[in-house]
Amino acid sequence: MGDLTGKVAIITGSGRGLGRAEALEFAKLGARVVVSEIDRPEAKEAAESVVEEIKGLGGEAIAAYGDCADTNDSQNLFKTAIDTFGDVNIMVNNAGFLRDKALFNMTDEEFDSVVRVHLRGHFVNMRNATAHWRAQAKAGGEVYGRLISTASEAFLFGSAGQPNYAAAKGGIVAMSMGAAQLMMKYGVTCNVICPRARTDMTDHGITAEIFAKPEEGFDFFAPENVSPLAGFLASPEGGNVSGEVFIVWGKRINVVQRPQLDVFYDNEDAWSVDNVGTTLGKHFEGRTPVTDGYSVPPQ
Ligand SMILES: NC(=O)c1ccc[n+]([C@@H]2O[C@H](COP(=O)([O-])OP(=O)(O)OC[C@H]3O[C@@H](n4cnc5c(N)ncnc54)[C@H](O)[C@@H]3O)[C@@H](O)[C@H]2O)c1
Repeated sequence: MGDLTGKVAIITGSGRGLGRAEALEFAKLGARVVVSEIDRPEAKEAAESVVEEIKGLGGEAIAAYGDCADTNDSQNLFKTAIDTFGDVNIMVNNAGFLRDKALFNMTDEEFDSVVRVHLRGHFVNMRNATAHWRAQAKAGGEVYGRLISTASEAFLFGSAGQPNYAAAKGGIVAMSMGAAQLMMKYGVTCNVICPRARTDMTDHGITAEIFAKPEEGFDFFAPENVSPLAGFLASPEGGNVSGEVFIVWGKRINVVQRPQLDVFYDNEDAWSVDNVGTTLGKHFEGRTPVTDGYSVPPQ
């Protein structure tokens, strides 16, 4: 199960955190890994150390540096993968950062930079990956393609202090669903994971407390609890799973139900504000706005 021998995987932001755990997981499954990181000294050091760890396990890996949301850097990333390992089979979009603020305090820069790194970051790499696999198919070649996107429960439940992040993650889910439909005919899958883990990103405030490593017992928020799902989705056995969204942490994998149409009301005549009010008034009677049916469920 999960044999990735010979497959080539690019993982953005894989010097640290969840990306690092995925890089090691994929390497253990036999994949050749491109450890992609931002071109900054501490990120490069982290990426080099992941490459060395993989080589120490007898695997193959190379580091590549650039901005995950930059068109040229993404093209160079694919060029590095193809020049070094001959192909790209698995594209994991994972890199990103936070700039949390309430909507009324958020600057344009805080909004744009977070949407850019997450949503555009997914877009440029998904564009290159899908173009690569389409070209392979058109040339009559064999295609093995897996897209794995990284969203967050912030997309699903909203996140009052993260309007930029929640919007970017919602966009990633929508784009990934479309990619799954588009690429189905080539046998390429696309799925989304919404993880929870103790990483640099969550090492502050309330999450640092909740995700802290316990002195004994199972470490629920270790990034290594997330990477097996990515390994499965990347594998041949995951070939019939596409267009799905998962929440994953600890010992649980939650398959997210796709958005469904709820009840509908047909009016006998054209709608007026009055009869909309009467009809929907009944529907929402007794409901508490926002928190009733639209909040993070209790754990
Ligand atoms: N940790 C969690 O609980 C959690 C929850 C929900 C979603 N996520 C998502 O998981 C993914 C990984 O997050 P993490 O928790 O491992 O965080 P992390 O901060 O440990 O890792 C993110 C990595 O992305 C890299 N990066 C940042 N900007 C980049 C850029 N422009 N180009 C290339 N690389 C860049 C960083 O250098 C870092 O190594 C993110 O998409 C995050 O939104 C994490």
